[in-house]
Amino acid sequence: MMHCGLDFGTSNTTLGVVTDGAPRLAALEGSHVTLPSAAFFGPRDGVRPSDPAPRIGRAAIAAYLDGEDGRLMRALKSVLGTALIDETTLIGRNRVGFRDVIARFLAEVRRRAEADLGRDLGDVVLGRPVQFVTDDAAANDRAEAALGDIARSVGFRNIAFQFEPVAAALEYERSLDREELALVADIGGGTSDFTVIRLGPQRAAREERGADVLANEGVRIGGTDFDSKLSLATVMPLLGYRTPLLREGLDVPSWYYFDLATWSRINLLYQPNVIAGLAGVRRQARQPELIERLIHVLHEHAGHGLLMIVEQAKITLSDALTATMALDAIERGLTETVGRDRFVSATQALADGIAARIADCLTAAGTTADQIDAVFLTGGSTSLPHVRRAILACVPGARAMDGDRFGAVGLGLGLDARRRFG
Ligand SMILES: Nc1ncnc2c1ncn2[C@@H]1O[C@H](COP(=O)(O)OP(=O)(O)OP(=O)(O)O)[C@@H](O)[C@H]1O
Ligand SMILES: [Mg+2]
Repeated sequence: MMHCGLDFGTSNTTLGVVTDGAPRLAALEGSHVTLPSAAFFGPRDGVRPSDPAPRIGRAAIAAYLDGEDGRLMRALKSVLGTALIDETTLIGRNRVGFRDVIARFLAEVRRRAEADLGRDLGDVVLGRPVQFVTDDAAANDRAEAALGDIARSVGFRNIAFQFEPVAAALEYERSLDREELALVADIGGGTSDFTVIRLGPQRAAREERGADVLANEGVRIGGTDFDSKLSLATVMPLLGYRTPLLREGLDVPSWYYFDLATWSRINLLYQPNVIAGLAGVRRQARQPELIERLIHVLHEHAGHGLLMIVEQAKITLSDALTATMALDAIERGLTETVGRDRFVSATQALADGIAARIADCLTAAGTTADQIDAVFLTGGSTSLPHVRRAILACVPGARAMDGDRFGAVGLGLGLDARRRFG
């Protein structure tokens, strides 16, 4: 039996182990060590071990984009800590619990990692955000308990938890040849997580690291929130968001658009009663042709595809000053071009929210910005230029260090598993 660290991310999942003294990530999809946290259920796929397995990862996204009959689920982790985790969702003709969907996903992750490593996996350190849900202790406890129960149900034995930024710090620490006080900023798909921690080669060898961690902080802001805001600013108005009804002073209800811009809520809109209700909205709308487009998008289950196009535009804007979205799913030939300025103004408040939490973290650690030697940046959303700028402005004198943006947490969890279980 081998022990491992599991980083079940909002967007990507990795599994880390230590072999021959060094951490490595297991291949989870072909030779890829990252697995998009997505599942696609065809009409006959289910969650019981005897059911045909859903496709996961890139294959799940490809099945959806190929227009196969079935249902795509993404950002499953964001359901932890919300009431949805104890609810069921319609898959094919069956109602299944979100817990069972996550279990099916993680069971498959474990199976693939075991196949790649050629060993059975036993004990696990599960990564967790400092805050699954911002400032709600009860919800955070429930989220951790649910994740632990799910991990147990798929066969992991002893289960421990580690804050994701602390795990990233342990991986970063391997590159150090002297002591330093570091700030770690992990900006992922669902959450932003921070730790202020003392690191160094001597400390790395110690069994107990609790005293080195001066503070942890987190906030439920991540890349998916940037997707949502960009969608609401650019694509949703083309479907009637913020357009008036015939009755003076009223707009089309905005919840349709909020759900359509939120990965874990898109499927709720595909229910027949929602689409039927929109026929009434269309009759009362000043621009019924826009509501007609919305109905068409829901009919075609095109919500995920639209949000993927928005996410891709966001990623393009990390390097380019403009991005053009092809919106044929709304109307053939329709495009929308967005400049970085418009994206930044739609999302600067999110970047500011991240920076505010870093300030809280420094305060909680009893440190001032000038005492921080280095800031280690990880997580896919640290590629956003305005997010990076906001983080670095919190610790202007610190060295900015970049590591494996998608692998540092999983590698660090693998190191932590060896420390705890080895
Ligand atoms: N080049 C890029 N520019 C901007 N954003 C990016 C880029 N590449 C990836 N992202 C975003 O990074 C996010 C995924 O990052 P990551 O894999 O670190 O998250 P995660 O670990 O799954 O989530 P979490 O830790 O919050 O649960 C997605 O929102 C994705 O759109
Ligand atoms: Mg992460």
